[in-house]
Amino acid sequence: MAILEIKTYPDNVLKEKAFPVTEFNDDLQKLIDDMIETMYAAFGVGLAANQVGVLKRIIVIDVSGKDESVPQNNAAPPLIVLINPEIIHSEGETEREEGCLSIPGYTTVIKRAENVKVRGLDRDGMPLEIEGSGLLAKALQHEIDHINGFLVIDRIGRIKKEFFKRRYMREAERKETV
Ligand code: NI
Repeated sequence: MAILEIKTYPDNVLKEKAFPVTEFNDDLQKLIDDMIETMYAAFGVGLAANQVGVLKRIIVIDVSGKDESVPQNNAAPPLIVLINPEIIHSEGETEREEGCLSIPGYTTVIKRAENVKVRGLDRDGMPLEIEGSGLLAKALQHEIDHINGFLVIDRIGRIKKEFFKRRYMREAERKETV
């Protein structure tokens, strides 16, 4: 296994829509293992393949260390690997603080569905459905956003986004000059 480099804003790979996975071969298994190791090494609760520069519809999530409220029915294992995931049902509305490993040091409040049901495939290509609320629902929506080319800053208003761009890029420049 290897820890991969996490791409950060404004890398273009984060704005691309990733392609469905069609082959469940050894290369895929290695990529998934590396993504899991990279997520844990970065203390993230989720990671999408775009974030390691690969345009494939793969997400990994583990919220077990951060949220005692999930899973309610123990149906979902702590480590979730989802291939080609799609939200098939969403319900309610909630606002929570979100950060992203690809935008280090930035958090913002985002409005999302409170509960979601996601359908996809597991790492062996078998059908898998995950239902979650709370942090798990947030992570599922956040990571599925990634494979569709969206970041948290695409979920805030245009004015807030402009403000973010100016401030974040100015801070990035400052860091480079030190
Ligand atoms: Ni993220």
